[in-house]
Amino acid sequence: MREIKTIGVLTSGGDAPGMNAAIRAVTRAAISNGWKVKAIYRGYEGLINNEIKDFTTESVSNTIQRGGTILKTARSKDFMTPEGRKKAHANMRSHGIDALIVIGGNGSLAGAQAFAREFDVPCIGLPGTIDNDLYGTDSTIGYDTALNTIMDCVDKIRDTATSHDRIFFVEVMGRDAGFLAQNSAIAAGAEAAIIPEDDTDIDQLAQFIGRGIRKSKNSSIVIVSEKDGGAMHYAERVRKEYPQYDVRVTILGHLQRGGTPTAQDRILASRLGVAAIDALKEGQRNVMIGIKNDQIVYVPIERAIKINKPIDRELINVLTVLSI
Ligand code: F6P
Repeated sequence: MREIKTIGVLTSGGDAPGMNAAIRAVTRAAISNGWKVKAIYRGYEGLINNEIKDFTTESVSNTIQRGGTILKTARSKDFMTPEGRKKAHANMRSHGIDALIVIGGNGSLAGAQAFAREFDVPCIGLPGTIDNDLYGTDSTIGYDTALNTIMDCVDKIRDTATSHDRIFFVEVMGRDAGFLAQNSAIAAGAEAAIIPEDDTDIDQLAQFIGRGIRKSKNSSIVIVSEKDGGAMHYAERVRKEYPQYDVRVTILGHLQRGGTPTAQDRILASRLGVAAIDALKEGQRNVMIGIKNDQIVYVPIERAIKINKPIDRELINVLTVLSI
């Protein structure tokens, strides 16, 4: 196996708070191990277009508290083609990059896997997405911050919901996963969450209405995952089927992806970044670094992206019990 002297680091897919803490950790851990660091801008797109710069420890100073990603990010269509990946590999080699650290979500890690297989390049993935949908890690970088942001927003929306006796459907991100919806609903004391993992979605609304808005409670908040029509879909249904209720929709959108990362995300990202360099030193390749039960784990990228991460039914029960 080729000796590692230089690593490349990139962020790809949707930005997530804590990505900068991960870039910082990877950079500093690699340098303290005597390796060089090349920063690749705009994800795989930058690898194809040769947007690559040397990084020093100073390059990542004053970044741990910043949201977004200092490396910028993109969803690269070209990298999905063999020609794109060939170009990316040629650029990587011309910069002397021996191994790649990819910080991103499902699609980004799938890209790393394809690249690693085609060119025999050691790739290490770090789970960076607010969706928390990667198998094998308890949390992903950015998830905790997004959860807190949603909670703060819902706390504010509740003021209007209560003052006007309204039902609010608040739509949150998560792509195909309901972690953000389910846990923000618990944290914000919402009356219900509608999530894709519960495949009886129509019943979820009927159930919620059927339970009735508690006699002493004239307002309620339902957190809805963005999948399958999201909040609009449910608000329309209520307007048609239960016209007695005053219904409003709030789609939180990208505001839930920004902002300064929480302590938990900064610590998670820092631990994962240092562990990524340790993994390369140990000869690991094509694994995602995760944390399970507070222990660093190496998850084959294949598993991390292919296996569906289940939502704990206990969380669904907690919300149901507490929303009476
Ligand atoms: O994967 C992160 C995420 O924010 C998802 O929750 C959401 O569905 C998607 O990205 C939105 O992507 P974009 O920023 O490209 O609109």
